[in-house]
Amino acid sequence: MRSPYDAVMDRFRVTGGARLAGEVRITGAKNSALKLMAAALLAEGVTVLEEVPKILDVQIMSELLRRLGCVVEGETTGTLSIDVPASPGHVTDYDLVRSMRASICVLGPLLARCGEVQVAFPGGDAIGSRGLDMHIDGLVKLGATVENEHGYLIAKAPKGLVGTPVWLDFPSVGATENILMAAVLAKGTTVIDNAAREPEIVDICTMLSGMGAKIEGAGTSTIEIHGVDGLSPVRHRTVPDRIVAGTFAVAAAVTHGDVTVRNARPEHLEIALDKLTVSGAAVTTVEDGFRVVMDRRPGAVDVVTLPYPGFATDMQPQFAVLNAVSDGHAMITENIFEARFVFLQELLRLGASIRTDGHHAIVRGVDRLSGAPVLATDVRAGAGLVLAGLVADGETLVSGVHHIDRGYDDLVNQLQVLGGSIEREPEPEPRF
Ligand code: UD1
Repeated sequence: MRSPYDAVMDRFRVTGGARLAGEVRITGAKNSALKLMAAALLAEGVTVLEEVPKILDVQIMSELLRRLGCVVEGETTGTLSIDVPASPGHVTDYDLVRSMRASICVLGPLLARCGEVQVAFPGGDAIGSRGLDMHIDGLVKLGATVENEHGYLIAKAPKGLVGTPVWLDFPSVGATENILMAAVLAKGTTVIDNAAREPEIVDICTMLSGMGAKIEGAGTSTIEIHGVDGLSPVRHRTVPDRIVAGTFAVAAAVTHGDVTVRNARPEHLEIALDKLTVSGAAVTTVEDGFRVVMDRRPGAVDVVTLPYPGFATDMQPQFAVLNAVSDGHAMITENIFEARFVFLQELLRLGASIRTDGHHAIVRGVDRLSGAPVLATDVRAGAGLVLAGLVADGETLVSGVHHIDRGYDDLVNQLQVLGGSIEREPEPEPRF
């Protein structure tokens, strides 16, 4: 597999016009696998994770765990084994954490396991301010001290964590996960109110329960955790990636295609698939997944992003593309990440008709998009630009594909199998 740094200088050459047809199989969710890898830190011994996507973020997280003393194998096979030592390190590598926001999820488990943790302020997608206040407040309520020194967050709980009620201002996915992973080894009961309800939260709770944790209410707004003295390693299968599945669903719709998505859970994409139906697609449940068939120009559909089970912010760029080529106009409202509309600037280069006002965007469908060089600024924006390229006249050159590699296992090959015209190539040296 290529290193995170090799792909920085690649781009995709997408030629529009092909109708996508056939079958595609999705692997496990990036947004789950990374957290499951962090959860492995909670138990000494070998944890095995199945259906782990072969993406750059998994490579980065594997490296981060190795530098904490774990032996990690299998990133290129989809089945990852993580051998966690009796005393893992508690200082995470500054540059690795800065390259991936999700690495903040080692905060909770390392604090619970080691009584102390040092994590750099994370980096990752440039899609807004992405605070950590709820992560920190939750851990402080559990009895930790948290300080910010020289770019690091340093959390300590030398006498252990103590269960307590925690109320989140917003159902943050990351904060719910960190507090959850800290609370499983705390003394007594923790109740997280206004917890996130994403399928990835249910997935990590299932894994933690398999390790011996006592958790009630996963998938609801109130999660109750009864702390235990220790956990054991486990074998766990990662929940399928609903965002990758949804991306192929929209790809089928915009190319007037017929795509069957396997190893997908339509119930995790309820609103998005319903929107596609409203847009004119025929969406049916099939064994182990769903099928999307579209035989007309898509109708426009309004989208309002919200925490799960609301419409996923990670599907917003893909639906912006659908609306950009729709027969009508629609309003997109982004409530989760303020900077996500940066992507719309790139769609304008392709001839889309879009007006933004704060966190609202009005998208008027145009007859045709026109291929042009564009830049992926985050993983889902990148996916959106690839979809736009598939329907635009001529060639669209998508730069910044390392962002796309962070979340999509094998996008180029999978689209080629479906009949899409897309190639990966080195980015030429800048001339100025
Ligand atoms: C996760 C997903 C991301 C998805 C998002 C929302 C991973 C690796 N990433 O991100 O793909 O788009 O959920 O579904 O799983 N916030 C604060 N303070 C905090 C925590 C969050 O202000 O302490 C804010 C963020 O800035 C953001 C919002 O809350 O505006 C949502 O963040 P959160 O749900 O935590 O998303 P992530 O876990 O970062």
